[in-house]
Formats: sequence, C-alpha cells, structure tokens
Amino acid sequence: MPAVAQVSYDDLYARWERGNWRATEIDFTEDRAQWAAMSELERRAALWNYALFFHGEDAVAADLAPFIDAAPLEEQRYFLATQQVDEARHAVFFKRFMHEVVGRGDGTVASGLCATEPELTWGFRRTFDLLREETGRLRRDRSRAALARAVTMYHLVVEATLAQPGQHFISDALERRGLLPGFRAGMKQVALDEQRHIAFGVRLLHDLAESDPGVVDAVAALIRTATPYSIAVFVPPAWNREYTEVFGFTLEEIYAEAARSFEAKMRAAGLPLESLPGPQVFPLDMTPEQRGERALAMLRAGFAGPADGAPARDPDAMKLLFDVLRRAVDHRTAPAGPFTVQWEFSDAEPWHLVVHDGAASAAAGRAASVDVELRCRYADWVDVVAGRLDARRALATWRLRPRGSPRVVWAARGLF
Ligand SMILES: [Fe+2]
Ligand SMILES: [Fe+2]
Repeated sequence: MPAVAQVSYDDLYARWERGNWRATEIDFTEDRAQWAAMSELERRAALWNYALFFHGEDAVAADLAPFIDAAPLEEQRYFLATQQVDEARHAVFFKRFMHEVVGRGDGTVASGLCATEPELTWGFRRTFDLLREETGRLRRDRSRAALARAVTMYHLVVEATLAQPGQHFISDALERRGLLPGFRAGMKQVALDEQRHIAFGVRLLHDLAESDPGVVDAVAALIRTATPYSIAVFVPPAWNREYTEVFGFTLEEIYAEAARSFEAKMRAAGLPLESLPGPQVFPLDMTPEQRGERALAMLRAGFAGPADGAPARDPDAMKLLFDVLRRAVDHRTAPAGPFTVQWEFSDAEPWHLVVHDGAASAAAGRAASVDVELRCRYADWVDVVAGRLDARRALATWRLRPRGSPRVVWAARGLF
C-alpha cells in the first residue's frame, strides 16, 4: 500500500479534533494598516488571487454534502462531516478578510461573494461548474465509480492541484515580506486543514480503486474532462504576469508545482497517471516544469481556455497543436493503420497525422497518401481541440467537412 494510503480515517478524524481553530478570532488590525500601505498593483493582484480562494471555499463547503451520503463507511462519513465544517470556516475566514481588510461587502457572505465575483476567471467558473455537476451526480448515483470521479475532482484536482500550490505561494510571498500577519496566520491553518482533506481524498480514492475495477476508467475520463478547465483557472487578467510576479513568483513556477502535486497524489492513491487507460492528458515524458510551460503556451495560443481572439498559427504554435492532437489519439478505438488524416485549412498551412501500430505522428505539409481529408477553418479546428466546439456539431453544421470513402470516414471516428 502506498505510504499516504496507510493514513487511517480514525487518524484523520483525530487530527481534525486537535487542529480546531477559530476564524472569528483572527486579528486583522495590522493587516488593515498594511493593506492601505501596499501598492495599487499589489492590492489588485492580492484581491484577484484571494477572491478565487474565497469563492472556492464557499463552493466546496456547499458541494461536500452529497459525499456524506455516498461514502460507504461511517468513518468516511464522519471525516467528511468534519471537512464540511472546515470549508465553512475557511469561507468565513476569507469573508472576514474581504470585508474587514479589503472593504468588500457588508459583512454577509453573500455580499462579499457578490462584490468579488467579477475577479473569477473563465477556468475557475468552468472548473467549479464541473465540481458541482460531479458532486450533484452523487445524489442520484452512489456507485463507487461516481464517488471516485467526485473525489478525484474535489480532493485531487481542486484541493491538491489548485488550492495547495496556490496557498503555498501566497504564504511564502507574504512571509518573505512580513506582510498581512492575520491573513498569514489564517492561511497557515487553512493549509493544515487542506493537507488533511487531501490525505483523506487520496486514501478514499485508493480504497475505491482497490474494491472496484471500474474506478480506474471513471477517474481517467474525469481527468480528461476536467483538465482543459483546471489549467485555465490561474490565468491572470489580460495575461498580466505582474499579478504573480509582484509577489515574487512566476506563472511557470505555479503550474510546475501544480503538475508535481497532482502527479504525486495520483501515485499515492495507487493510480499513477502513466497507468491510466486511454490517451494520456499529460505529456509524462516531460518534467513538471516543461509540462507547466506547455500548458501556459497552449493557453496563450488559444488551444485551451476561453475563446480569446484568433488562435496562434505560426509554425511553432501549429507544431504544438498537432503534438497535442497526436497524443490525444485513443489507440483503443483508432483504426490500427497505417491511417493518414490530412487537414486542409482554408486559412493556415496543411498538416497531417499518421496512426500506425499504436503510435501516432504528425507533420506539416501534405501526406503522399491520405485516408481522410478534413477541410475547415483553422479557428474552428482549434475550437474543437480546445473543447469549445463539439466535433459532431462542427460536422453537422459543415464547419468540418471530411472527405474519403464512407467506410474510412466512419473508422476515423474512433481516433479521438
Ligand atoms: Fe478549504
Ligand atoms: Fe478543503
């Protein structure tokens, strides 16, 4: 059993009793004075970053209830009840900070949320919509596969990949500069709570995967759905890198840390990423640093995240796009090959993809022999890759026009 999965539910519950703290008693007097003395940019950047946390805590407090009904063991349900209390306490802590230090809202949670709502990013909104969908599914379907999907989304994607690295960078930055002592003290407690929540999620996912072989497919599918959203959560307004750099860390550092954290937790749960069935979402042959840079490059180029102007179409960008595509081939359902797809863009250079014997390669230009040709606008194809345009819809509306024998075009459906 991996080390993290040896943590027992009883231990985690006992740690909760010992770790209780009071969000209502944190003293923000010094924070208020320091906040007023911070630069305009520092205040903007901190408000943006902490607003994501405030809304995140409120959402996870609300979305935990279905887990309590769906978890099979009493010990799991009791721990989940403690976690729900924690998440409410975290939301109260952020609400107080927003109201008493930043001056947002009238002291109620609803007004604080409303006053900070414009800060939320596209990726944040999509990620938390999906969290709500996955946890909501548990109300109708209490199967182990549904519970495993929800735990992966909640404890591994939202808590371990998004919240934990974010907290780490915020605390480090404030510590280094001796800023916001009240906020820092609260964040330290929040981080300790999150560690416990994540350890629980890893343990639960491990136990679910061990008891039901269907869990691994459900988890792999969830990760494929969640990743295009989760990688876009931390894109700063107008790609202004000063939002993180003013506090001494780069976007690349945050993304690398997130990649490292997710990979480690999946491994601890007994579901290492490289073992998951189907196309690999993450290029695991690269280091976490390279994967972070790549995710940011995809977002910048418009290959992931919100539709944000014309997608990049220079040779390097197209090379990245087709590398993503090559890795997304599902060899379980793709034609065995050799099988060649040719893209004829009306407004960009042609590219082609060859599938052969469980491997796929892509190259610029035209292939000598072609099985299926796809004609489309470059931007429409990028929308399909980014998950912004459903491929079936693109076919039905003639934005994507395949050419080839009907049998071969049919076979090509299994590619992705
Ligand atoms: Fe939390
Ligand atoms: Fe949490």
